[in-house]
Amino acid sequence: TRLVILISGRGSNMRSIIEAINHQQLDATVAAVISNRPDAAGLEYASSQSIPTKIVDHKAFADRDSFDKALAKQIDEFNPDYVILAGFMRILTAEFVEHYQNKLINIHPSLLPKFKGLDTHQRAIDAGEQEHGASVHFVTAELDDGPVIMQAKVKVMADDSAQTLAARVLEQEHQLYPAAIQKLVNSKQD
Ligand code: GRF
Repeated sequence: TRLVILISGRGSNMRSIIEAINHQQLDATVAAVISNRPDAAGLEYASSQSIPTKIVDHKAFADRDSFDKALAKQIDEFNPDYVILAGFMRILTAEFVEHYQNKLINIHPSLLPKFKGLDTHQRAIDAGEQEHGASVHFVTAELDDGPVIMQAKVKVMADDSAQTLAARVLEQEHQLYPAAIQKLVNSKQD
């Protein structure tokens, strides 16, 4: 199963996927890591793992549609089975999403359908949630709204700040994402 992973920043979820593959915990290969930001720290890690990296800089495009078209062209050169969004901080056009229907996967730091969008940890605390977590889901045209593949939960502690909660959720993300992708790999083999 060939993966292309899209990142925008540190790429800790990308790293956990690559490490799972290296430790034979995920039966897949990473064909490429692509970032919309030239300065994404995750690119260095991917290169250190001899994984091809590409940059499609959204600032170099006049509009969202032309960026998405260039990004899709770059992705398709690697012919992936799944396109994995991992800390990819761009909203994608409906055309792009349709082009990859059921092959486009994202991780969102909340127990969807709760807390779509940003600042999920602070919002969970403000809402007095007893538990919170992360969701791996298929990407659809509506933001953070596609069918959930797998979730991981954490308890919200009374003295949690958004930072301490985010750190505990991120730890779970790093186990959740490889497990969710393996579930897809298994379902494809059936
Ligand atoms: C994480 O909170 C993840 O849930 C969201 O982006 C954040 C950064 O992820 N998708 P990463 O460290 O860049 O993988």
